[in-house]
Amino acid sequence: MKVTVVGAGAVGATCADNIARKQLCDELVILDIKEGVAEGKAMDLMQTAQIEGFDTKITGSTNDYSKTAGSSVAVITSGIPRKPGMTREELIGINAGIVKTVTENLLKHSPDVIIVVISNPMDTMTYLALKSSGLPKNRIIGMGGMLDSARFRYFLSQAMHCSPNDLQATVVGGHGDTTMIPLTRLATYCGTPVSNYLDAETLKKVAADTMVGGATLTGLLGTSAWYAPGAAGAAVVEAIVRDEKKMMACCVSLEGEYGMNDICLGVPVIVGKNGWEKIVDYKLNEEEMAAMNKSAEAVRNMNSVLSTLGL
Ligand code: 2OP
Repeated sequence: MKVTVVGAGAVGATCADNIARKQLCDELVILDIKEGVAEGKAMDLMQTAQIEGFDTKITGSTNDYSKTAGSSVAVITSGIPRKPGMTREELIGINAGIVKTVTENLLKHSPDVIIVVISNPMDTMTYLALKSSGLPKNRIIGMGGMLDSARFRYFLSQAMHCSPNDLQATVVGGHGDTTMIPLTRLATYCGTPVSNYLDAETLKKVAADTMVGGATLTGLLGTSAWYAPGAAGAAVVEAIVRDEKKMMACCVSLEGEYGMNDICLGVPVIVGKNGWEKIVDYKLNEEEMAAMNKSAEAVRNMNSVLSTLGL
């Protein structure tokens, strides 16, 4: 089993670190366009192997895609991160060209790869990877909903003074400050509705904090977050390589599900060895579906920018 992580920035390196520690593959290749960075991070990570007790062989390469040949899964983290005050959407002009090139290069050497997209704006980059790869839809997965759902559970756990592991809570829709939809009505604490424990105003604040979770971190860090995005990417890889059949909120191509077509958007999916294998119907109510449609409209507008960029 071979996995590639493209982009050796903070998110890519953290994702690679998680993949190695969990020993998800025998071979892990990290690629970056900056001379020496992937090689350096791979060597640094390899020097944790004895300490962490993993046997994964990690190598780095400066943009030599032949090194990625035969990868079962590839994670795309390439592109620039946002700076404080920037939206994910503002990155499209630079990141779209990069993600398209990365996708095409990966395909040349790993025609059967499953691609996990982290680069922003994630929904549009997932759509672009789908269109430019021509891969079957199940092989392209954007990880945004996993990250946003983890943040939702974090903010809920803070408000409830409980373990995030005792919470089930999902964020669907786009991976944008105004497009994501924390599904508060369906969130549970050990199987019981969170509304049993938190009043409407607190739940509203938890949802609002979740939506700007990434922006809050960007404000604090001066660049976008990496621990949770990297871990979320690795969790999707884990579900694939271990054929977990786990339900995860991921950005996938919709063909009639949730009443939508020709769009990649965050919905609950089952993830296993074939990529995303099934879309789960959460039976959203009218209000939640209205939010989904609004979110889809914003993502569609972003997708339409691709053609103006000649992509
Ligand atoms: C985030 O939300 C990087 O989009 C990522 O932190």
